[in-house]
Amino acid sequence: MAAAFAHHILLSKPSSSFFFTKTLAKSNHGFTAFVSVIRRHKSTQPIAASLLELGGVQISKQDVVKDEPTNNVPDLIFTKLGLQLHRRDNHPLGILKNAIHEYFDSNYNSQFLKFDDLCPIVTTKQNFDDVLVPADHVSRSYNDTYYIDADTVLRCHTSAHQAELLRKGYTNFLVTGDVYRRDSIDSTHYPVFHQMEGVRVFSPNDWNDSGKDGTSYAADDLKACLEGLARHLFGAVEMRWVDTYFPFTNPSFELEIYFQEKWLEVLGCGVMEQEILKRGGKTDNVAWAFGLGLERLAMVLFDIPDIRLFWSTDKRFTSQFTKGQLGIKFKPFSKYPPCYKDMSFWINDSFTENNLCEIVRGVAGDLAEEVVLIDNFTNKKGMTSHCYRITYRSMERSLTDEEINELQWNVRDQVQRQMNVELR
Ligand code: DAH
Repeated sequence: MAAAFAHHILLSKPSSSFFFTKTLAKSNHGFTAFVSVIRRHKSTQPIAASLLELGGVQISKQDVVKDEPTNNVPDLIFTKLGLQLHRRDNHPLGILKNAIHEYFDSNYNSQFLKFDDLCPIVTTKQNFDDVLVPADHVSRSYNDTYYIDADTVLRCHTSAHQAELLRKGYTNFLVTGDVYRRDSIDSTHYPVFHQMEGVRVFSPNDWNDSGKDGTSYAADDLKACLEGLARHLFGAVEMRWVDTYFPFTNPSFELEIYFQEKWLEVLGCGVMEQEILKRGGKTDNVAWAFGLGLERLAMVLFDIPDIRLFWSTDKRFTSQFTKGQLGIKFKPFSKYPPCYKDMSFWINDSFTENNLCEIVRGVAGDLAEEVVLIDNFTNKKGMTSHCYRITYRSMERSLTDEEINELQWNVRDQVQRQMNVELR
């Protein structure tokens, strides 16, 4: 399933991350051939804020959404650029970011520099090469990442800024930002979400007297730092470390905490690959790095049941959160009825679930709650049929039958035309 690999909130799937090898093995994603990228419906209508400022860079819609085969950014994604939920002090993501900053400020004497306004448009070099993501890694595919052109993407992780900040000479820093991934549709996945990256660089003076080598010293410091952070956010919880793989760290770990009767992945981290430091001009140093998904943690900390709520402007959502208050539990203001619509079609070789989900989001926006494969079979002629169930539900109001039928009709039409599948 698409979701097995392209999970959203960093480490948001119970046991896998965007950058794990094990998810590569599990994934059925091939590398989506260029030609199989679906053509999106791009509206020609000007949108309200057509000139944005992102991290000091002026960006217009035409810079991001282009009707060219090397571009797969839909209109909907453009509308999210520049919203920067993590910079709103009264928003759960801003409250969480501030709480993490507070932890670092008080434990590290404000040594960590904080960046939360770096432009999300980065080069493939920044997003992949600089952090040693292999040339054939699935995260580079057009099925998984939003490309503006062949060399430019919407960052798919905040690790995209590690190398440039090291090159600029920073040695202790936190980077928070919106990140973008093509993905499935359900309550924990949204194509835009937020991450925080942390990096700390050590020099031989730091570890020489410790009796440890640089790598063990950094790994121990990293673990102590992140265990402290988890306690700062979650209280006295049980924790465990799990060995894992990331292209940018070695060794690599995941921190899990036992919370509400489940082991929950909190973040990914490790000792930075020496090559990254070397390229940043730091040959004698050792560093640690971590990355965490803000939505994933905020959903647990604030009891937020659906990831779409973070984007809600409904007062019944926004008014429940207050600057500086991490402990507040969200009180659902409604549970409007869901509506289920099934659609079946014969797939072709270029079919991917992410492409389907992109069409559904393009038509229904945040009214699309979930898309699940409910039936899958291959007939004697070797043709494969998929049946997907789409759940439509608004967080804010009841939907009418006519409205849902119109959405479904539109989805069917666009799926047929853009994906060249045969509806059944
Ligand atoms: N970039 C990783 C992701 O998005 C998260 C991550 C893992 C960041 C380990 C790190 C790290 O800096 O050391 O899945």
